[in-house]
Parts: sequence; C-alpha cells; structure tokens
Amino acid sequence: METKTVLITGCTSGIGRATAEGIAKTGAKVIMGCRNIEMANRVRDEIKKSTGNGKIIVRKLDLASLKSVREFAATINREENKLDVLIHNAGIALSLWKKISEDGLELTMATNHYGPFLLTILLIDILKRSAPSRVVIVTSKWYPMGNVDLTSNANPTQFWRAHYNYYVSKYMNVLWTLELDRRLQGSGVTANCLHPGKVFTNIWQANTPRAFYFCMSPVLEKLLKSCDEGARTTTYLATSDEVANTSGAYFKNCRVAEIERSVKDPEKGEKFWKLSEKMVKLGPTDPRI
Ligand SMILES: NC(=O)c1ccc[n+]([C@@H]2O[C@H](COP(=O)([O-])OP(=O)(O)OC[C@H]3O[C@@H](n4cnc5c(N)ncnc54)[C@H](OP(=O)(O)O)[C@@H]3O)[C@@H](O)[C@H]2O)c1
Repeated sequence: METKTVLITGCTSGIGRATAEGIAKTGAKVIMGCRNIEMANRVRDEIKKSTGNGKIIVRKLDLASLKSVREFAATINREENKLDVLIHNAGIALSLWKKISEDGLELTMATNHYGPFLLTILLIDILKRSAPSRVVIVTSKWYPMGNVDLTSNANPTQFWRAHYNYYVSKYMNVLWTLELDRRLQGSGVTANCLHPGKVFTNIWQANTPRAFYFCMSPVLEKLLKSCDEGARTTTYLATSDEVANTSGAYFKNCRVAEIERSVKDPEKGEKFWKLSEKMVKLGPTDPRI
C-alpha cells in the first residue's frame, strides 16, 4: 500500500482510530478527516509513533455541516494528486433527543448519510482519476430495523423517532452503497459496505446514562469486540487484493453477507439518490455520479 492514499473519516476514537492505525501499518498515506482537530492531532502523533509511518495528515471535517464537507473536499481536491480509498467510518447514534443540523437535516442522518453522500460526490473525480479505487462504507447489521419511506409525503430527512433514526441512517448506508455501485459500473471505482461487529467504543455511551455505562463498561469490554477486531473488515475492504473487483456487496467478518430484499430495489435506490442530491443542495457546477 506504500503508493496508496487512503482517506478515513472519524478516526479520533473507536473503530476509525484502529482502522487508521491498521492502514498506516501498510505504509499507505493516511488522511484523517476529523472534526476535533486537537484530538485528531494527538491520535496522528500516536499512530506515527506506533507505526513509524510519517505520511499521516489531519484535515478538518464536520460531516454534520454541508459547508464543512464542501471545504474539506475542496482541500483534498487541491492538495492531493490521487485518492485510492475513501472510508466512510464516522458515525453517531444520538437517538434520545431530536437534533437538527445547521442545514435543517436531522442530525443522525446528516452525520451518517448526507455528509458522506455529499463528500463522495465532491471527491468522485479524483477517485475516478485514481482508479482502480474504492469507497468503503461502515454500516451496521441492525440496518434492517430501519427503513426509508419514499412512497409517502413524509420527509425522511426530518423524520424522527427515539432510538430509531440510527437504524434508518444505517439502512440509508446500504441503500446508498448499492445505488453508488450501480452508478459507478465501468468506472474502476468500487463501493462496498460492512458491519464491523459489536465493538466496545464510545458510541455505546450515547444513549446510556453515565453511571450505568461506567458500571457496565467492564462487562461490555468482555462481551464486545476490541477496536482492532472491529477494524478488520474495513481494513480488509480497503487493502485486500481479494476484493479488488468486488462491488455492491455487504460484508461481515471479511466475508460477503446476505442483503435484505427491500434495500436491493433499484427503483428505491434511484429515488433515494435523487432525494439525497436535493437534501445536500447539489448545485449545477457540482460533479454528478
Ligand atoms: N461500535 C459498534 O458496535 C458499531 C456497530 C455497528 C456499526 N458501527 C459503526 O462504526 C462506525 C464508527 O463508530 P465507533 O463505534 O467507532 O464510534 P466512536 O468511537 O464514537 O467513533 C465515532 C467517530 O466518528 C466521529 N464523528 C462523529 N460525528 C462526526 C462528525 N459530525 N464529523 C466528523 N466526525 C464525526 C467521532 O469524532 P469525535 O471525536 O469528534 O466525536 C469519532 O471519531 C460508525 O459508523 C458506527 O455506526 C459501530
């Protein structure tokens, strides 16, 4: 991977941090797209020290802000000659309280779907120029618990039900991966998604009372995968020759897994793509996939 450039979102902690470290070990250049720059710089220094890889850079990215996504994409397009792998790892599971992003989108969906969607479109030219290249999307095996109702007048970007929106956003991740694959056929850019496993990370704190989480964390740590284990499938999809020609698939434990029927519907994928383009306010001069 010494000649490759890999961009990973959300690598200040958890699976993203372990993925950044795993990929840095392969010798690739790693771009960390993070919203907390201070923490990201600290993580970058630690990864540089543990891997001996000096080609790790941090760039500011808040996926919940369309403006930040545009600024980040402009920086990457200006600074980089190539981009071999784009890993959408960042995510939140904030589902106890409804929050709306500065762009008027429900925050979980803004962070987990709309930000990554816009970022991919804005980086598509550099990905195509770097082909063969890959887009890797971290979803969750709980995605079938969500859905996107595109038949009613309900606006799925504002839709909110406590605990439910995380599943909806992860459903969107799979629906979008499959449509991305259909649109990228013949381009040399692949698109796959994955479930990392149940991993002991900060994400479990989001909906758990602090004291309860504090008491439960030793138990959770034993029951759940470590971050290094959780990063394996992402790293596999980003680096392995075995999947160089695989696209439009969903992976668990580094193996292709079954996809639920409703997400495979191309008509639904197409409709959702169009809706997403509208929600991220894609302009006439923006690239199209
Ligand atoms: N843990 C599991 O069991 C599990 C299971 C299935 C799927 N997943 C998925 O795995 C991915 C990683 O989650 P994790 O478990 O490793 O959780 P985590 O430790 O909380 O890491 C989430 C990362 O996303 C970043 N992030 C959050 N909001 C962001 C934003 N608006 N802009 C940029 N970065 C942002 C966080 O940065 P800050 O430091 O700034 O907060 C952090 O680096 C997520 O997509 C999650 O849905 C996790």
